[in-house]
Amino acid sequence: MTTEFEREMQGIVQLVRSIYGSDFVPLHRPVFKGNEKQYLIDCIDSNFVSSVGAKVTEFEQQVAAFTGAAYATATVNGTAALHAALQLVGVQQGDEVISQAMTFVASCNAISYTGAIPVFIDVDRDTLGMSAMALRRFLDQHAELRGGQAFNKRTGRRLAACVPMHTFGIPCRIEEIVAICDHYGIVVVEDAAESLGSYVGTRHTGTFGRVASLSFNGNKVITTGGGGMIITNDAALATRAKHLTTTAKLPHAYEFVHDEIGYNYRLPNLNAALGCAQMECLPAFLASKADVAGRYVAYCDARGIAYARAPQGSTSNHWLNAIVWESLQQRDDFLKFSNDQGVMTRPVWRLMTELAMFKHCQHDGLENARWLQDRVVNIPSSVPDTALPDISATTP
Ligand SMILES: Cc1ncc(COP(=O)(O)O)c(C=O)c1O
Repeated sequence: MTTEFEREMQGIVQLVRSIYGSDFVPLHRPVFKGNEKQYLIDCIDSNFVSSVGAKVTEFEQQVAAFTGAAYATATVNGTAALHAALQLVGVQQGDEVISQAMTFVASCNAISYTGAIPVFIDVDRDTLGMSAMALRRFLDQHAELRGGQAFNKRTGRRLAACVPMHTFGIPCRIEEIVAICDHYGIVVVEDAAESLGSYVGTRHTGTFGRVASLSFNGNKVITTGGGGMIITNDAALATRAKHLTTTAKLPHAYEFVHDEIGYNYRLPNLNAALGCAQMECLPAFLASKADVAGRYVAYCDARGIAYARAPQGSTSNHWLNAIVWESLQQRDDFLKFSNDQGVMTRPVWRLMTELAMFKHCQHDGLENARWLQDRVVNIPSSVPDTALPDISATTP
C-alpha cells in the first residue's frame, strides 16, 4: 500500500517533471538566451579578453545599479571577493570572525585565508540564515568591550567581523544582526553569494553591512562562468577593493610599482561580458524563479509540507527552493527516491563544525542547524527552458 509520504514524494517528482520535462533535471543550471554569445564575440574581436576591458567596468556598474550599492568591484570568484572583503575591513591573523555553522564551506575558507578563526553561531529555522537571537546570546555571554572593540572572554581574541549568509537567497535577519554587531563594534561582512535579487523591504541584501560579496558561479542566479563582486557604499573601501584585488599596482603608464602584497583576483573581460548579458536577463530570471517557487509553495501548502520561505517583509530570489521534511528518514528516503528518478535533489551542506578543519572552533548549541541538517532538501530551481523567449535579437 502506498503511504501518504510516498504519495508526497511522487507528487513532488511529478511536479518537477511538469516544470522541467522528462530528461535528467539538474538542481540549477544556467540559461544563455540573451546577448551572451554576441558580447563574447565582441570581446574576442576587441582583443581585450583578459583582466582589463570595458566589460568589467560595465558589469560592475550594472551590479551596483541593480543592488543599489554605491560601488562594485568584480573579482574572479565569490570566495576571492569574500577574502578580500574581510581583509579590507581589517581582519587580521589571530582574530576571530563570527560565521554560521550552516553555510557553504567557502564562507569559512575565506575567513581562514586571513589567518582568522571562525566562531560558529546557530541559524534560524525559518530563514536558514544566521540567527540574530543566537548571535546576541553568544555575544552577551562571551564578548567584552575594550576600547570600542569586542574581545572573546574565553580566548582573549578580538572578534573582528561577522559574516551572516543569506541562505539559498532567503534574507537572514540582517537588520537585527547589524544592530547587534554595531553595539559590539563588530564589522558586518555579508556573504550575499546566493542572494542577488533578494531584498529586505526594498533594500537589496548585501547593502546592510559595511561590505558584501556576491558569486556568479555557474549554479547561481546569474553566471559569469566563474566570478564574484565586492559591493559597498564606502568610497574609500571601494577604492582599496580595486587596488587590493588588482595586484596593488600604482597607476602609471608603464612603470610597475606595487605598494603592498595584492592579489590577482581580477575578473577577466570575457567573463564580465557574460555577466553583462546575464544582468540584462536578471529581471526575467527572477520573475520565472518566483513563478516556479509559487508552484512548489502551492503544492507544499496544500499537503502540509514545510517549504522554506522568506519571512514577512523580505523577498527571496528563490535561488534554491528547499523543503524541510519531518525527519532524517524522510529526508533520506526523498533524496534516494528523487535522485533515482533522475530528479536532482540534495541535502544541505554538512555543518562546518563537523568538518575536520573547523571542528575545534568555538560554537553555540547549534540546535536549529542540527535540526535543519537532518531535514532540508533542495529541489530543482533553474529557470525553466520554456520560460524565456530568446531575447538576443531584441536587446541592444
Ligand atoms: C554562501 C556562499 N559563499 C561563498 C561562495 C563562493 O562563491 P564562488 O564559488 O564564486 O567562489 C558560494 C558559492 O559558491 C556560496 O554559496
